[in-house]
Amino acid sequence: MKFPSRRGTLAGLSGFTGIVALSGTAAARGLGDGAFTHGVASGDPTTNSVIIWTRFVPKAAVPGPVRWQVARDEAFSRIVAEGSALAKPETDYCIKVDATGLAPGQRYFYRFLSRSGPSVTGLTRTAPERGREPLTIAGFACSMLPAGYFRAYADAATRDDIDLCAHVGDYIYEYGDELRQFAPNMLSERTWEPKTEIVTYADYARRYASYRADPDLQELHRVKPFVHVWDDHEFTNDAWREGAQNHQPLTEGPWLPRRDAAAKAWFDWLPVRPQPGEPRRIHHTLKWGDLAHLIMLDSRLMRDKQPDSWQSLLTNFADGDRARFDREALRLWQDEIGAPNRTVLGSDQETWLAGQLKASRDAGMNWQVLIEGSVLGRFQMPRQSEAWLAPDASANEKKTRRILAQVGELGLPFDTPLWSGFPAARERLLASCKANGSNVFAFGGETHIGWAFNLPGGEDGPAAVEIACTAVTSSNSFRPHGFDDASREAAFIEASPELAWCDVHHWGYTSVRFDAKAATADFTGFRSISTRDTPVAKRSQLVAETTKVGVRPWIVS
Ligand SMILES: [Fe+2]
Repeated sequence: MKFPSRRGTLAGLSGFTGIVALSGTAAARGLGDGAFTHGVASGDPTTNSVIIWTRFVPKAAVPGPVRWQVARDEAFSRIVAEGSALAKPETDYCIKVDATGLAPGQRYFYRFLSRSGPSVTGLTRTAPERGREPLTIAGFACSMLPAGYFRAYADAATRDDIDLCAHVGDYIYEYGDELRQFAPNMLSERTWEPKTEIVTYADYARRYASYRADPDLQELHRVKPFVHVWDDHEFTNDAWREGAQNHQPLTEGPWLPRRDAAAKAWFDWLPVRPQPGEPRRIHHTLKWGDLAHLIMLDSRLMRDKQPDSWQSLLTNFADGDRARFDREALRLWQDEIGAPNRTVLGSDQETWLAGQLKASRDAGMNWQVLIEGSVLGRFQMPRQSEAWLAPDASANEKKTRRILAQVGELGLPFDTPLWSGFPAARERLLASCKANGSNVFAFGGETHIGWAFNLPGGEDGPAAVEIACTAVTSSNSFRPHGFDDASREAAFIEASPELAWCDVHHWGYTSVRFDAKAATADFTGFRSISTRDTPVAKRSQLVAETTKVGVRPWIVS
């Protein structure tokens, strides 16, 4: 089935014929008056169900219900599931329905109806029950709204080949407009609410409303089902089990209410399936025929606190004897950062993951696709990177870069808020992939750079291959001024044994097509995000083949 063009349905035109037929009927008279304010969305497709989402702000203090419909055809003449739902203030008027009783491997149209008119018509699909039909997942990370236009979302929305979108976190950012002082490239026309840092449920909900007013994000949600995991900025910067770098209890109150408010807004605003009795549980699996299990992980809320930065740990060793610096760096790495009990997933989730990997392999699945918010692969700071700093860089910036490059020369990673800062937990996860999975792939994000890693698994091949997605709009500090200069990528690859490919230049996204033989990753990059119509500037393709004993390393074409 070919879906209609975005132009045909964007303004609710396809739904309009339906509401004309409906208005004046008993069904329409029973429905509420109000407005669908943020389009529609769908997510977490199983073989027979999918979550459908909308937001309906009623006119009356006592709201009436809306009707939802899922159909095989755009005219809604073949409705396969329908029902009614009520928008409530306690969910910020977001409506989520688990539409069940659907057929496997089918594409569907869905919409919501009110007395005031219909929502736009959404497009979604269910997972296949059997077979090894290919699956294409588009991965996204890090969408800083004021930094630019969501070119990545807009581009993906036009592609017929994408089955599913995976957002791996930093879907929103918590900062207020003070950010604009430190980041002069922010666009004045890209505004968000509230203007201050978000702390309460009402704040987080308003921030989601700002994001979902973006027409490109709204359109992608309308035409593709999503799976989501969260990272730190859905809460606040560098969040962990008991707090966050950007959470100040003295002025912002205790951590747990803020965490819970942020999680509730995430669940209310995103088309994810809640798990009964577990309001913050996001780890779960979805099955795609006999081809793959998707395994969503929470790499944020169960984790220990990240290590202090190398620059703060080693500042007093930086200007003296190099042998002493090296000894201290290795001691910290082995004894403190490397302490065996340090965790990212927490022991319950680790045990659960091992079971899911094994069950998937035992069921004959070709792929286990991990979807998580951080980066598993390690990258070292190249020595040449000291020369990448701006000529007016401060003495402190130069010292920091030198410390990180020296740490890199010891073979140690520098970005320790990532899995790199939890080496024992990373080793456990990779050992579990190797022992329990068949061919393991990981989607990550977080660094605003595109990476492809071969994650070490011993002599007979990687434990997994990883694509860490570049940012939709967030910035990184390695982007050079000259776009034809690939020397920074080459330096990272040379310094980092696990790294097969990287891109520090572009914003964008990566789609990955999984079939029984291989994972084929296609990177789509944009040089600029300062207008809504900048063209695609870079495409790269990488292939990782499956075998009976595990995935092969990336081949960069
Ligand atoms: Fe980010």
